[in-house]
Amino acid sequence: MAKLTFHGHATVSIETDDGTRIIVDPWFDENPLSDVKADEIGKVDYIFCTHGHTDHFADAIPLAKRTGATLVSTFEIASFAETQGVENVHPMHIGGGFDFPFGRVKMTPALHGGKVHGDETGAFTTVPGGFLFKVDGLGLYHAGDTALLGDMRFLEGQVDVALLPIGDNFTMGPDDAVRATELIHPRVVIPIHYNTWDLIAQDPEAFRKKMGDRARVEIMAPGDTIPLS
Ligand code: NI
Ligand code: MN
Repeated sequence: MAKLTFHGHATVSIETDDGTRIIVDPWFDENPLSDVKADEIGKVDYIFCTHGHTDHFADAIPLAKRTGATLVSTFEIASFAETQGVENVHPMHIGGGFDFPFGRVKMTPALHGGKVHGDETGAFTTVPGGFLFKVDGLGLYHAGDTALLGDMRFLEGQVDVALLPIGDNFTMGPDDAVRATELIHPRVVIPIHYNTWDLIAQDPEAFRKKMGDRARVEIMAPGDTIPLS
């Protein structure tokens, strides 16, 4: 059974049954919530980036270069990573899925901004997204940074565990995350992208109350690992 570890903000790692290690939105060194620093991360096979903002991407390129992991993101971000010396990239785009050796991943829409951290020219400003992973028989959705989208209803029936931003201000807040849950119908919701800065301060227990019996809310502290089931 795959395991998920939360590293604070929107950074998670996934370990699948076949031993593949995946990191989504690596932001360790400047992340005030992170339980680890980037150089403490050992083996990584894949790095998935929902978009290029600092708080999702800052450690992606150095981590990919050090570990040899394949960096997976939109075509524009993957291309930018190549110009920065990342050897293994896998470009994809919104609405497209691919059968990786560990399972299938589809890139989902997100309504948000897209400036890429580290690109001084601004030429790589691009569309943000999220990821729908199908690993070890389970559907895991990392929404990325997004507003509530009516299109989330198309994910219904495919998601067991949903990582949803609740911070408000830059993304959905708690009310819209509950509304997203009504569209997606996951069994478990893990709140992310909150309490990193004052601007996105939220009470996850209040979010759990708001959610009621729509889904089980799993509140994870940085460093916590749970089995995906
Ligand atoms: Ni962002
Ligand atoms: Mn963000």
